[in-house]
This record gives sequence, C-alpha cells and structure tokens, in this order.
Amino acid sequence: MTDYKKLAGQAICDIVPYKPGKPVKELERELGIKEAVKLASNENPFGPSPKVKTAIKDFFPEISRYPFGDAHYLRTKLAAKLEVPADMLLFGTGSNEIIELAIRTFLKDGEHVISPAPSFSVYSSIAQAAGKTCKWIPCNEDFSFNFKALLDAVDEKTRMIFIANPNNPTGAYTKDKDLKAFMEKVPSDVVVVMDEAYVEFADAKDFPDTMTYLDKYKNIFIMRTFSKAYGLAALRVGYCVADAMAIDMMNRVRQPFNTNMAGQVAAEAALEDQAYLQKVVRKNKKGRNYIQKEFKKMELKYIPSQSNFVLVEVGDGEKVFNELLKKGVIVRYLGPGLKPYVRVSVGTMSENEFFIEQLKKVLGK
Ligand SMILES: Cc1ncc(COP(=O)(O)O)c(C=O)c1O
Repeated sequence: MTDYKKLAGQAICDIVPYKPGKPVKELERELGIKEAVKLASNENPFGPSPKVKTAIKDFFPEISRYPFGDAHYLRTKLAAKLEVPADMLLFGTGSNEIIELAIRTFLKDGEHVISPAPSFSVYSSIAQAAGKTCKWIPCNEDFSFNFKALLDAVDEKTRMIFIANPNNPTGAYTKDKDLKAFMEKVPSDVVVVMDEAYVEFADAKDFPDTMTYLDKYKNIFIMRTFSKAYGLAALRVGYCVADAMAIDMMNRVRQPFNTNMAGQVAAEAALEDQAYLQKVVRKNKKGRNYIQKEFKKMELKYIPSQSNFVLVEVGDGEKVFNELLKKGVIVRYLGPGLKPYVRVSVGTMSENEFFIEQLKKVLGK
C-alpha cells in the first residue's frame, strides 16, 4: 500500500482543508427547501457590469488560444487607472494565487509569515503547504489589530506580515495613521502585504489610500481582486501592486499562463464600467446599513463593517448557523475561535430582508 500521508509529510497532513460551501441547489435538495439564499462567501449579489457579458461573448471564438501570459491589455488598462508603471503589476488566479506567489518567492526555509487573528485563514494554509509557518497574533478585544504585538512578534525569521484591510471575517478596518505608524517601524526586509480584497466597499474618511504609500515604503505589496465588488469571483482574477523588482521576482515563479483569458477580458470590461462599480458599492452600503440597523434593533452586538459582510454575535454561532440553514439562509459559522458569531454577507435588499426575518424567528426576537 502506498502511504500518501507519509509521502506528503506532517506539514501537509496538518493543513486544515478549506471547506467550501455546498452548491445552493444541492443544499435545497438536501433540506427539501426552495430558493435558498446564500450569504456566506462575500460575493457580489448584483453580478458584474453588463459590459462583462458582451466582452466574454466576443472573446468566445478565441477560446482555443492560450491567454496573454503577461495580461498585456488588462495590465495596460489597470496601470493607467492606478497611475503606476505597468511593471509594478502582477496578475494571479484570484488574489489567493498572489498570496501563494509571494510566499513561494520570498520565504526561505525556516522563515515565517505573521498575521493578526482572526483573519483570512488562507495565509497559514498556503504557508504550511509551502513548508513554512504562520504566526497568528490575537487582535484587541474590539477586533482592531494589535500593532504593538505584531511588531514584537517580528524576528530575523519573519519575512512577511499580512494585513487584511478591511479585515475578513470581522469587517473592521485599520486607519491611515495607524498603518503609517506601523509601516515606519517594520524593518525594510519584512514585506507588508496589504490584502485589500474588499477595498472598494470601504468608505471611512480615514481609510488608508495605500497607493500613496508605494513611493515611500518599498516593502509594501498591495493585493486586490476582481472577485468581490467587480463581481467576477468565478473567473479568478486578482492582482498585486508592488516595487518592480519584487514583481520581477514573483514573475519568475509564476506559471506562464496563470490568468485565464475569459478573466482578463472580463476584468478589462469591468474596469471600464466604473459607474456600474459605484452602483454596486452604493447598493452594498444601503444593504449593510439596513442589516446593521436591524441588528441594533434586535440588540445584537456587531462589528461595524467597512466591507460587504457583517460579523454579529448571536449566542451559539454554530446553532444559529444550522437553524438558519433549515430556513433557507446560508451564512458562515467561523469555528470555535469565533464561537458566538456568524458572518453574513450583504445580499440584495430582498435577500437581506429575508435573512433578518429568519434570524428573528431563530432568535425568538
Ligand atoms: C481577505 C481576503 N483576501 C483574499 C481573498 C481571495 O479572493 P480571490 O482569490 O477570489 O481574489 C478573499 C476571499 O474571500 C478574502 O476574503
């Protein structure tokens, strides 16, 4: 018998597999319900710009060709929009691949990454898969990041610090002045990866514009995605803005055709329709305000969100998750570390209303 656990080694065995949600149709079948509402993966419920549909249709005859390995047209368009040189951009199969490329390129044996906890679990699973580790540093009680503790955890083996802003799963954000003060203290050979997957939804006045950090802090990577506000999660396009030398190094590790062509043309079309993006952001804000207001009325504690989801304290998170499931609402329970909470993504207004209605029933409110 071939023992694949032994062949993979302990570090791989120790990875907690990412648990994707079941397809909605499957769940409806299992529970014998109709029209379940999925508010579990922080997706865009409004879909992408209509221009994306046309772009994908137009691209279809080219499907037998390999994609542009350097994402030429998308790169040119995005560089112009962000006002950065094109060689400061790297594209990936979602920002997940950028996390992987950064870790595989820059971490040597025995080195580690650091992240506040709770945050995006993929940082540690990718580090572990690459034979490295992730040090999780607990947040403050209000879920703000403990920057002092993060800095104290840095040693000569620290290569990278992941800062999700806004953070997932809390929706909380780091202010410009706090991030700047932190950047001033991080050694220049430690990379700070700003994971800005949800940045388009953030509207706080003191939310940092990290694009303005690039000149001063050569050790910052800004990672963003087309999966969320742009509504292209299925097409897997993310990107990183960083010092051209860092991008050059990651490009050597990157697979030549990593970013698929449907994703490239869709992302181009989505970028061109900024009016649509703003519409999505406005609808999200309206939905987020509604959900938070309803939580307040129900006297539930929630973390004020700068994103497209809200973390709310409901007593027994797992139980409430299961009860909601039976009523056709899929939210996210985040495990024993966040036992009293569930995370709900902002949906369309009718989905939000349905969720609140069902939550009231579950909690007897
Ligand atoms: C904080 C954060 N970063 C990165 C990602 C990855 O997004 P994608 O790989 O779709 O770009 C997610 C997805 O949920 C996320 O929540």
